Amino acid sequence: MKQHQILIMDSGIGGLTVFNAIREKLPEVVCHYIADHAYFPYGTKTEKVLEKRMKELLRWALDKHQLDAVVIACNSASTAVLDELRAEFAIPFIGVVPAIKTAAELTQKKSIGLLATEGTVNRQYTEQLIQDFARDCKVTRVASSDLVHLAEEKIQGKLSTLEPLREIVSPLIAAKVDVVVLGCTHFPWFREELKHIAPDIQWIDSGEAIARRVEFILADLTTDEATKEATFYSTKKGVTNPFIERFFNIETLSID
Ligand code: DGL
Repeated sequence: MKQHQILIMDSGIGGLTVFNAIREKLPEVVCHYIADHAYFPYGTKTEKVLEKRMKELLRWALDKHQLDAVVIACNSASTAVLDELRAEFAIPFIGVVPAIKTAAELTQKKSIGLLATEGTVNRQYTEQLIQDFARDCKVTRVASSDLVHLAEEKIQGKLSTLEPLREIVSPLIAAKVDVVVLGCTHFPWFREELKHIAPDIQWIDSGEAIARRVEFILADLTTDEATKEATFYSTKKGVTNPFIERFFNIETLSID
């Protein structure tokens, strides 16, 4: 059987929320995954640092696997370096950026929230999305690095309390938003908890839209590749958990 192979990249386990959406829609696609834990977090890194690092990882990955497409499953990286990656590599890229347009379409109150990393919240790319699609809305922006760390802890089974979560989202509740864009792929790991804290808010992300985009791009591509095992690479030694083990071989990636 011939199968398409794609690569999903993130600073850590955030992109697994995008992997989940892709797997649901396209279970036949082989998804390799790079979690750049050695450079985690991406949300506080400069564009220059991200560009250099991601190009290095991509050169390695394209050499190692016959890939059909690459999903940059990280808002912090996509809003910073997508154009630069497209300029250097011929492979199709699918970027993940905050779902501002969807939020603006869904809001009844014309008051939406953006919960993302510092990098994503402050980038010109994000400002442009707001200008293009949510001009008529009040947009409350909350940047949180803590929530990214908490998501990593959660998936490693190390999270003891959800109290910080309540505090992080309190400005959104105070602003009376009715839709919040989870503008970081780590955050959908807290979907249930967020719904519990604020059941009247719609917490949205880009997962399904990305899966549709991947389907669209792969539909045009033929492949000669025989079935391969999906591999989860972390750039830090010893990263594993039952979720990752269930879907991937696990290897450490070292390019230094
Ligand atoms: N999951 C990533 C994002 O969507 C990166 C989070 C981080 O490493 O700061 O922004």
